[in-house]
Amino acid sequence: MTERVLIIDFGSQVTQLIARRVRESGVYCEIHPFNLVSDTFLDDFAPKAIILSGGPASVIEAGSARAPDRVFEMGVPVLGICYGQQAMVAQLGGEVEASDHREFGRAFVDVTGDCALFDGVWQVGDREQVWMSHGDRVIALPEGFRVVGVSDGSPFAAIADDERRFYGLMFHPEVVHTPHGAGLLRNFTHRVAGCTGDWTMAAFLEHETEKVRAQVGRGRIICGLSGGVDSSVVAALLHHAIGEQLTCVFVDTGLLRQGEAAEVVDLFREHYNIPLVHSDASALFLERLAGVTDPEDKRKIIGATFIDVFDDEAKKAGGADFLAQGTLYPDVIESVSFSGGPSVTIKSHHNVGGLPERMNLALVEPLRELFKDEVRILGRELGLPDSVVGRHPFPGPGLAIRVPGEVTQDKIDILRRADAIFLEEIRAAGLYDAIWQAFAVLLPVQSVGVMGDARTYEYVCALRAVTSVDGMTADYYPFDHAFLGRVAGRIINEGKGINRVVYDVTSKPPGTIEWE
Ligand code: XMP
Repeated sequence: MTERVLIIDFGSQVTQLIARRVRESGVYCEIHPFNLVSDTFLDDFAPKAIILSGGPASVIEAGSARAPDRVFEMGVPVLGICYGQQAMVAQLGGEVEASDHREFGRAFVDVTGDCALFDGVWQVGDREQVWMSHGDRVIALPEGFRVVGVSDGSPFAAIADDERRFYGLMFHPEVVHTPHGAGLLRNFTHRVAGCTGDWTMAAFLEHETEKVRAQVGRGRIICGLSGGVDSSVVAALLHHAIGEQLTCVFVDTGLLRQGEAAEVVDLFREHYNIPLVHSDASALFLERLAGVTDPEDKRKIIGATFIDVFDDEAKKAGGADFLAQGTLYPDVIESVSFSGGPSVTIKSHHNVGGLPERMNLALVEPLRELFKDEVRILGRELGLPDSVVGRHPFPGPGLAIRVPGEVTQDKIDILRRADAIFLEEIRAAGLYDAIWQAFAVLLPVQSVGVMGDARTYEYVCALRAVTSVDGMTADYYPFDHAFLGRVAGRIINEGKGINRVVYDVTSKPPGTIEWE
């Protein structure tokens, strides 16, 4: 991997989007927090270009963050965005002041000068929509810079020093509300920095394979397989890299969807021929969940039980030197976030968070540099079937958090059947890929019905289907009524236990995707 762009993070909420845009243009990049970027790191990383992100602080404050001076001495192009622009200006001898005209949200930039950043995207005389979010502004430029764009609040909205290849933007080109922003970033990496954009998933796979081989040597890796996209891709990649040195452990919690356990075992044991321990621990999970009704208690019990079972099975399988995890890039970045995590725990999602501490093994995390959609592309590259790669997300605690109240075998069986019918109908209607997640919830409520002239008194089932980009916000899916009627009819008629079906039309927020 030769072409690498370094993004120095000053803590903006949207720094990740810079990485997305750069990678979309075929250039590999990494985000590193400003305070961890040393001169040695810079030399080792050997970036083709450097981007300085935005950030919540003010460069006027004493002691506020700066880029290492070395950034400006390496002879590589530098693009400063928002706070990054201001830090660059302050460091190179210009001036920044607090502005009484703060700009937040949509703004317009008048293009006043030509520069390589604008080539084929913006022209002198254009008035272009951008997205701003700043209080301070630049008032005097360092030597060598000239203004190429102005806005109402920023007389130096875009600046350029073509000779040193330093550029600064007061607005955020990485967000979709700056419609031509991706083009500007592409110009920076391709035209200014001369990147060819040859970064592909095939290249990444090769690179990661070598890295895993170098890290693991002749050691043994143990990998938890859940059947979800991330763990499946990790397992397939490790198998590709180190073959027989990998053992997978599949803990069957008894809380999975219909047919899921068999599918996972078939795919990895039969198709990939990976040594796979299939541990059916459903009885233990149910036993520990008996009488528990609080959602957070359920999550904790399931997480702890998972760790117990996994650890046991790993020992039985002869131990290992490494533990594989499907950590993704957003988790890695979040752990060095400046704004900190959410101040309130809505739901504790880190269901198996304690595993590395308990097992005390070195970690292998081959997906730590990828975003979720990149993991899917990598999965395809590895030949995983669409049924795995395109699978809807499924929570670690499984069906237990779709049975509000106490979890019993009987309720899980009723729910699993209803859920399978719903998903079958969604697939038959060709809607599976248009939906982020779809599932049934078995409510702890019984209602009166009439079937074949007899009174029934059975559970109510809620159906939930949402669209979403990242699971952070979501909207309910607008099925037509005929579809919902058909699903309800099948759920009630094809088995016992449910005599009423309702559809959840709550968005997130204010609801969450899962009911618990
Ligand atoms: P919520 O319900 O918070 O869900 O809107 C957002 C996404 O996270 C999944 N989810 C979980 N995943 N362990 C997981 O691994 C959990 O405890 C958990 N709770 C929710 C949920 O399915 C959705 O995709």
